[in-house]
Amino acid sequence: AGNSLIYYPSTGSTNIDAKRAAEDGAPEGTLVVTDCQNTGRGRRGRDWSSPQGCNLYFTLLLRPDCSPDQACMLTLVMALAVAEAVNELGLEAGIKWPNDIVLSGKKICGILTEMSAEPDYIHYVVIGCGINVNQEEFPSEISRTATSLRLEKGEKISRSALLVSVMDHFEEAYGAFRKTWDLTELLPSYHRFLLNKDARVRVLDPKGEFDGIARGINEKGELLVETEQNGIVNVYAGEVSVRGV
Ligand code: BTN
Repeated sequence: AGNSLIYYPSTGSTNIDAKRAAEDGAPEGTLVVTDCQNTGRGRRGRDWSSPQGCNLYFTLLLRPDCSPDQACMLTLVMALAVAEAVNELGLEAGIKWPNDIVLSGKKICGILTEMSAEPDYIHYVVIGCGINVNQEEFPSEISRTATSLRLEKGEKISRSALLVSVMDHFEEAYGAFRKTWDLTELLPSYHRFLLNKDARVRVLDPKGEFDGIARGINEKGELLVETEQNGIVNVYAGEVSVRGV
């Protein structure tokens, strides 16, 4: 990954830039990086606050030769790469399934994966990643749920070194993923970082909510939740949110 780098001092959203580059024929491994986004987007149509100069905002373009269902797991592959890079800074990174990276209960990274695909063919996938690196203050709406690497470590972190480290870890994890187009080989590493393992969780999906004990994920990236009524329930990452109870 990271064959070709597109850098903008500021932009709307690197996901939009990467999709445009993809439509124009940019190859697998193209990476779009910026210092500031004016219309950064999160999951569920939320805004992603993207202040100037202190954080990392980037999107990786891939053209994997797999099904759209399999490509959805790339979000988890990126989450693992970020967790490994953050862990190497001496910080205790956790992954809140499917794809938030958390330090002491607060979010430091979000990932937004989008794709253009036919039912059985992928044109491209873009994996957008926002990491709170050196931000020291957060808007009041998110100050209780967000933190940065600098705030947690108590010192400034090199954004470029972190980006290189995330890309190195991603390249390795992507290589493992591509062997089987699933998470078989990555499960032990992912579980090292998985939060709420063997803990009570509440799953909220559009159809309702239920409680159970999170037992981990399977090779498809589904969260396995043990319930009293229905035994093990496989939770698919789509529109659900999971929280500890
Ligand atoms: C989330 O947790 O809701 C996902 C946040 C994803 C933010 C990143 S920042 C780089 C890329 N460009 C965007 O507009 N969003 C992603």
